[in-house]
Amino acid sequence: MESPFKPDVLKGKVALITGGGSGIGFEISTQFGKHGASIAIMGRRKQVLDAAVSDLRSLGIAAIGLEGDVRKPEDARRVVESAYQHFGRIDILINAAAGNFLSAAEDLSTNGFRTVLDIDAVGTFNMCHEALKYLKKGGPGRDSSTGGGSIINISATLHYTASWYQIHVSAAKAAVDATTRNLALEWGTDYEIRVNGIAPGPIGGTPGMSKLVPDEIQNKTRELMPLYKLGEKWDIAMAALYLSGDTGKYVNGLTMVVDGGLWLSKPRHLAKEAVKELSRVVEKRSRAKPVGLPTSKL
Ligand code: COA
Repeated sequence: MESPFKPDVLKGKVALITGGGSGIGFEISTQFGKHGASIAIMGRRKQVLDAAVSDLRSLGIAAIGLEGDVRKPEDARRVVESAYQHFGRIDILINAAAGNFLSAAEDLSTNGFRTVLDIDAVGTFNMCHEALKYLKKGGPGRDSSTGGGSIINISATLHYTASWYQIHVSAAKAAVDATTRNLALEWGTDYEIRVNGIAPGPIGGTPGMSKLVPDEIQNKTRELMPLYKLGEKWDIAMAALYLSGDTGKYVNGLTMVVDGGLWLSKPRHLAKEAVKELSRVVEKRSRAKPVGLPTSKL
């Protein structure tokens, strides 16, 4: 789909995107590049990074791949430094790296729970922490008139209510959202850095989707969640463009839900036609017997 944004909205900006080699992260890398940004993608798998960088370069985008694991502070530091060394500035950090699998709580080991918290929550913190130096107003490579940079943390909606077999991810994303808000407060105040999040619904063609909603159960899901429909990676990339470009200059501390309303979904317990009938009957009944009056007085 065509982007509604002007092609130069991120001109001259440098974006560092964790998990930028595949799925939502790669689409954000591509769209940011198409809108003028230079792209550094971080990931654990060299092959995936190499393929992604070559795809980006074939579109004329200035891109580099940096191997590293967001769970390790030393990797976070090295990658942030390398991105700065290569491009001379960092304006935007997107934390899109995440880990996920389905597991009943009772079958999940401590290490399984911890691993996802480590990737999503600790990883996000590590990257933000190391990138602060470059994102803050007046930081290396920034001219002091342009203010601070911006951070987007990719989250989820799982923890707004509760989600089957996702205790580890729900806990991790709750921590990510808290991190987003706390950094928005502290770093918005002290360094003019805006920190926001995006909570995608199920997005087609992503590793998360194939792991969490296998094809076999998609029809069943639609019955239970009437608002269920797949989003596109493009939807998330456009939200990220909005939040990190000048369009989002007054937005700070928000986690924007991009899920077609899915998290509000509830099965319809009564047909619309039946509601009309029933509500009249109930109304008549309640008029005949005013609320609050003891039955003996009627
Ligand atoms: N069910 C239950 N436990 C699982 C599991 C599953 N499907 N997959 C992994 N685990 C547990 C492991 O058993 C291990 O715990 P243990 O030591 O008590 O046995 C723990 O999680 C760590 O697993 P390991 O494979 O060593 O971790 P890793 O660091 O190599 O991989 C994952 C991390 C498990 C999150 C892996 O799925 C991954 O790399 N994911 C990244 C991609 C991704 O998930 N994308 C989707 C984003 S929405």
